[in-house]
Amino acid sequence: MNYALLDQAVRFIQQTWPEAHPSTALICGSGWSSVVEAFDLHGSLSYEDIPGLGKPGVAGHAGELSWGTLHGVETFIFQGRRHYYEGVGWTPIALPVYAAKKCGVQTVVLTNSAGCIREDLSPGDLLVVRDHFNFMGANPLIGDHKPCWGPRFPDQTYVYTETLREKLVAAGKDTGIDLSQGAYLAAAGPSYESPFEIQAFKKWGADAVGMSTVPEAILASAAGMNVACVSCMTNYAAGIGGQALSHEEVTHTTQATMPRMKGLLENFWKRLG
Ligand code: HPA
Repeated sequence: MNYALLDQAVRFIQQTWPEAHPSTALICGSGWSSVVEAFDLHGSLSYEDIPGLGKPGVAGHAGELSWGTLHGVETFIFQGRRHYYEGVGWTPIALPVYAAKKCGVQTVVLTNSAGCIREDLSPGDLLVVRDHFNFMGANPLIGDHKPCWGPRFPDQTYVYTETLREKLVAAGKDTGIDLSQGAYLAAAGPSYESPFEIQAFKKWGADAVGMSTVPEAILASAAGMNVACVSCMTNYAAGIGGQALSHEEVTHTTQATMPRMKGLLENFWKRLG
């Protein structure tokens, strides 16, 4: 992790928006970027202008940091994330979490798209993440210990804040979305999983599978922030639906689910206020 670059990014954001005091950060997965439309915006920055962040390498990731307010909750909205499979290290993945912490954020909300494994889930469903499996074969905290990430060996028992999960479920009820909670498994990617891998993950208790989010959740929790995560089921995981997987299907389902995701997050923000 390049801390000189991370600190440069924080300085850049704070110098550009000296009056920003966000309590909350939203880090959007592919296709989730238009949730930004719900916010009253005060400014936007291109990822390419933020030191250490750079353009997301994936179609569907907008690559903008917006600063806005919704229901009185001042929020940094990171529209698009960087991934471990891009092979450029942890710095751009950690940057939104690091910058959020340094700018005073207490709550980090993560969104992603995922393949569904659990039998009662199907594409278009939304899942509140209760716990995760880190199956990336890597951890963003490997390396010199930095006190900003809390103790050397951070506990993983309470990564996803219970009160936030309850608020998400309640927001779902209000917006007509039946939300269940479950476990998200992060694989490194970029190849999708094989059907046999999915069968093994299912036996372990994984409900959904993706290639992101867990590093940010580990970091945000280690830094002492509250963490919530909503996953959009975009496809049946490999071997479950009997058809080949494609990124087109993932982006198409996310777009089709967008009005419900927007309604859910808007109602959730009301509860954060
Ligand atoms: N596997 C991994 N990542 C994903 C999937 C999947 O099935 N769907 C969306 N992102």
